[in-house]
Amino acid sequence: MYGLVPGGREWIEMAHLLKTFSITPRDFVRAGEISIAIQGILKSVGFGQDVIRRASVCAYESEMNVVMHGGKGTFFLAVEPEMIVMEVADDGPGIQDIDLAMQEGYSTASPEYREIGFGAGMGLPNIKKNADEMEITSEKGKGTRVKILIRAEEESGGAG
Ligand SMILES: Nc1ncnc2c1ncn2[C@@H]1O[C@H](COP(=O)(O)OP(=O)(O)OP(=O)(O)O)[C@@H](O)[C@H]1O
Ligand SMILES: [Mg+2]
Repeated sequence: MYGLVPGGREWIEMAHLLKTFSITPRDFVRAGEISIAIQGILKSVGFGQDVIRRASVCAYESEMNVVMHGGKGTFFLAVEPEMIVMEVADDGPGIQDIDLAMQEGYSTASPEYREIGFGAGMGLPNIKKNADEMEITSEKGKGTRVKILIRAEEESGGAG
């Protein structure tokens, strides 16, 4: 189960790697930085390509949702040899109907956001597709919390 990392010694130091990032709503200058940082972290501890790809999609979509739709946010990352856990919480307006928000194509993105390429309504469905487990909780007027778990299958050090 721990055979997924080429440099086993690194893992002993990196297990239980925890990191938090803050997200500023509507900050399109820094938007995307967290998912890039997470990609770097996951590469450095030796996860395979497929795990990194799935984690990147989940990180990017959840980060961008806070930037576009949410409020002040916190992005929490926990990395263990066999799993990656991300928890993204914001104190924005919340999601009124989570089942609806989870549907492909549903979006409340403004015309301005659509013009710059967002608002396809694919972010949450993409997270669901790429995560092994996903949970959204939200309270109207209080905020939103998205929990994501990605299991690292044993694979031959990034060949996949
Ligand atoms: N953190 C959040 N706070 C408030 N509303 C949210 C949040 N995340 C998602 N939503 C709501 O859920 C809808 C669907 O989100 P989803 O990520 O699937 O699509 P999108 O962000 O609108 O478009 P895309 O992700 O394809 O650019 C959003 O349009 C928004 O109404
Ligand atoms: Mg989105």
